[in-house]
Amino acid sequence: MRQSLVIANWKLNGDLNLVSQMVQSFSQDSAADYATDVVICPPAPYLSALHAESLACAEDAVNVKVGAQNCSEYTQGAYTGEIAASMLRETGCEYVILGHSERRTLFSEDDSLIAKKLKAAQQAELTVVLCVGESLTERENNQTIEVVTAQLAAALDGADFSRLVIAYEPVWAIGTGKTASPQQAQAVHQEIRQYLSQLSNDKGAKVPLLYGGSVKADNAEVLFAQTDIDGGLIGGASLEADQFRAICRAVKG
Ligand code: PGA
Repeated sequence: MRQSLVIANWKLNGDLNLVSQMVQSFSQDSAADYATDVVICPPAPYLSALHAESLACAEDAVNVKVGAQNCSEYTQGAYTGEIAASMLRETGCEYVILGHSERRTLFSEDDSLIAKKLKAAQQAELTVVLCVGESLTERENNQTIEVVTAQLAAALDGADFSRLVIAYEPVWAIGTGKTASPQQAQAVHQEIRQYLSQLSNDKGAKVPLLYGGSVKADNAEVLFAQTDIDGGLIGGASLEADQFRAICRAVKG
């Protein structure tokens, strides 16, 4: 059995009020009604507050786990503005998103930097949510699998598969309202699953694979029902508590 996961990526959005609102909203639900773990990745200044609020919830309520959106490849030193993975761990973080297409394109993060960050994060005992995905041109040129496997190969050399989640996010579907069809998403997930199994048969088969890119409450269920889709990485629709809870409940046990 693979762990199902739904992860909120707030990007540069939200505030302390949204942190409280989200945790309160989930705390109304019983953990028994959810077939998935729920992770929220707010901007870094809100990580400690999210962790504290989540700890204060009733034991049988949904336990919201905490994730970060980035970390440094360095552990300490004269790197102004950077945040080390061990520091994130101290705030209660269990996850960190790496390789998101916005970091690859807007902040020029290349495969080699992402590989270094992945190692630093796993050494600090964080689970890495590694994002991969093709651009529209790459899809139109039938390069999707080539691009995705190259991104995986570059980042995963020496990686610990027990602290790994892969999020397949076609760049053309992120924030655009254009979702990959369940068949398109499943086809790529299946290839990723095969690739991971080739790298490490027993461990590769257990890595959770998430789909991301314009997932909403009304398309989540059919996407999550695909054989190799174990949950989602949710941007825009994770900023509204009722919609995000509905997406989480779209994972069926
Ligand atoms: P979106 O973003 O759900 O707003 O498309 C997904 C992501 O960037 O992780």
